[in-house]
Parts: sequence; C-alpha cells; structure tokens
Amino acid sequence: MRIILLGPPGAGKGTQAEVLSKHYSLAHISTGDILRESVKLGTVVGLKAKSYMEKGELVPDEVVVEIVADALKGDSVKEGFILDGFPRTEVQAAQLEGVLQEAGIGIDAVIYFKTSEEVAVARLSGRRVCSKCRAIYHAKNMPPKIDRICDKCNGKLIQRKDDEEKTVRNRLRVYDKQTAGLIDYYRTKGLLKEVSGDLDVQEVFEILKDIFAKK
Ligand code: AP5
Ligand code: MG
Ligand code: ZN
Repeated sequence: MRIILLGPPGAGKGTQAEVLSKHYSLAHISTGDILRESVKLGTVVGLKAKSYMEKGELVPDEVVVEIVADALKGDSVKEGFILDGFPRTEVQAAQLEGVLQEAGIGIDAVIYFKTSEEVAVARLSGRRVCSKCRAIYHAKNMPPKIDRICDKCNGKLIQRKDDEEKTVRNRLRVYDKQTAGLIDYYRTKGLLKEVSGDLDVQEVFEILKDIFAKK
C-alpha cells in the first residue's frame, strides 16, 4: 500500500503514520522528521532548510523532492510506504508523480485530515516529541507514563522549536496558501479520502482501517 497523509499542522499525520506503519508494515517517510534530523546533524540539506523551518515557511521544493526521491530508492519501501507531510505544493506533487512513474508504481490513497484551527493550535502547544526515537506525545491528550520521559526508549521529551504559537499561526497560514490546493488536486484524480482529524486517535485509526479494507 502506498499512501499520502495530507492535512494542516497538528492534524495528527505523524501520530497516525506511526500506528499505520506498524499495523501494515509500511515505511514511514516524514519530510519534517528527515529535515529536522538534517538540521541537527548540520548536513548540506540541514543548512539549506534551517531558516525556513524556524519561520514555519516551506523549504524549497527541489530540496524536499530530492529527499523523497532518495527515500523511495531504499529497500524499506518495497512493501509500501506512507508519505507524511509530502507533497505540500503542486510542484512537489507533479514531481512525485514523475518519480513514481519511473518506478512503475502509483499512489493508492491520499488521506486528508480535515482539522479545525482551534484543535490544531491546542494540539501543537501541548505536543512533546522524543529527542531520541521521535515518538509523539501530548501533555494532556497523550501524556507519557513518566513526566517528560519517552515510554518507548526512555529518551527525553522536548518541544519542537516551531511549536511556539506565533510560528504555529504562520505554519497554518502557509498551509492554507500553499498546500490546501492539493485537496482538490487529489480529489480530481479520484484518490482523496476525507477523515475528520478532530476525532480522537483511536477513532481516526478505525476509520482509516475501514478505508484500507476496501482498497
Ligand atoms: P512537519 O514536521 O511535517 O510539520 P507539520 O506539517 O506542520 O505537521 P506537524 O508535524 O506539526 O503535525 P502532525 O499532523 O504530524 O501532528 P502530530 O501527529 O504530531 O514540517 C515541519 C517543517 O518542515 C515545515 O514547517 C517546513 O518548514 C518543513 N517541511 C516539511 N515537509 C515539507 C515539504 N514537503 N515541503 C516543504 N517544507 C517542508 O500531532 C500533533 C499533536 O496532537 C501531538 O501532540 C499529538 O500527540 C496530538 N494528537 C495527534 N492526533 C490526535 C488526536 N486524534 N486527538 C488528540 N490529540 C492528538
Ligand atoms: Mg508531523
Ligand atoms: Zn523515544
């Protein structure tokens, strides 16, 4: 199965990708995670991406497309994959199509998490992520068993730098301006499945399982 997860910041793309990738043994490709790792390591990609990410702006298309094209070459994607946070512009979507066409494969479904702005802002202000394994928590909705410690690997939980309210608001604006157009783009192609991102984690997961059972 090859799936794209589309939706605003805080919609729960990363959270559902974690669960889905385990349940269906799919590779989880998050451009946000790959970019944050590159910034941390100070790679060429990281140096290019850092200033955009800090402001909540999109990293240039060519940088992101190359990351995804590379990720799709690996063995781990043979059984299928989940693209989380990519594509985010029509240019990225068109280039992804080119990459997939060359490989002779296609996308099975694009899941659009329709999420209200208040929910997104509340989720991002309480989000905590593991500094080691990238697992996602929420101070209220999904707290770890031990305060600020990851249940899975004992790593330290931290707040993402772009989760402060001003940057969150900008990320939401950027999403409306540059990414939301992809909803119609994929609807026209007959690939779009709309799910309410405002529901709780388990409810969303159940709906997704129903969708994939019909695929
Ligand atoms: P990225 O890391 O992709 O961030 P994003 O799209 O803004 O989305 P988030 O990760 O913030 O939200 P999410 O939907 O994954 O929600 P999550 O599951 O964590 O991108 C970061 C930056 O990288 C961008 O700003 C850009 O600069 C750059 N970038 C990345 N991809 C790019 C691209 N393709 N092109 C250009 N630039 C790119 O959940 C959020 C919180 O809510 C968590 O605390 C979670 O525990 C909680 N939660 C989740 N689901 C539920 C639920 N159902 N009920 C209650 N709480 C929930
Ligand atoms: Mg995410
Ligand atoms: Zn961890």
